[in-house]
Amino acid sequence: MAGLAVNIDHIATLRQARGTAYPDPVAAAVLAELAGADGIVVHLREDRRHIQDRDVYLLRKTIMTKMILEMAATDEMIGIASKVKPDLVTLVPEKRQELTTEGGLDVMGNSSNLEKAIRALHDRRIRVSLFVDPDDKQIEQAQKIKADVIEIHTGAFCDAKDPAEADKAFSDIIAAAKAASDLNLGVNAGHGICYQTIKRFAGLKEIDEFSIGHSIISRAALVGLDLAVREMVQLIKEL
Ligand code: PXP
Repeated sequence: MAGLAVNIDHIATLRQARGTAYPDPVAAAVLAELAGADGIVVHLREDRRHIQDRDVYLLRKTIMTKMILEMAATDEMIGIASKVKPDLVTLVPEKRQELTTEGGLDVMGNSSNLEKAIRALHDRRIRVSLFVDPDDKQIEQAQKIKADVIEIHTGAFCDAKDPAEADKAFSDIIAAAKAASDLNLGVNAGHGICYQTIKRFAGLKEIDEFSIGHSIISRAALVGLDLAVREMVQLIKEL
């Protein structure tokens, strides 16, 4: 059975929107773990738009399952990862203006920089995953430069506008998962997966873990709204 790593970046997005101390990603991680998450994912972006350095250091002390740090392959981030020592680093491409990670890494085009980053992280005994589009050539190159795991970018499938486009994108995911598994790479998958698109993955045994954030945090806001309003109504009644 595949695992679920919950990405809690958007808890931090809500906090940063107001500059408050809440909601705290540390509290969110505890709740996600209590609900059965197999790991917690945070992306420390260069622009610090959601997760902050303080979150990363505190989460390392509080996460009981597995800490997965998403980051760009920069010297600054490798320095932070070396201190934090997450259980897994997922290297992702990062552009300042993007709303979210837009595509997989160009492993072939950035092979020497990525290989250097993987070596530096391995020296610290940190396992490394590369976020890649479902493309055999990228996956083969990931294995050549000694990645431990690949995370297949599922965005093209999840964001597909019509069924034919979704079918094609999903067949690429199946092929990529099988290719990576044949190369003895760990296989994760994520980006854009929601409560509908997850159903399509039934039977795809090669996937070890799903990395899911936005849809879970969005649903939490709605399923939690009833209780949150009731609690405030009660407080006002008691005034
Ligand atoms: N995997 C990677 C590499 C990502 O960058 C993201 C988004 O931060 C996710 C998974 C989770 O995507 P989503 O928030 O759409 O579930």
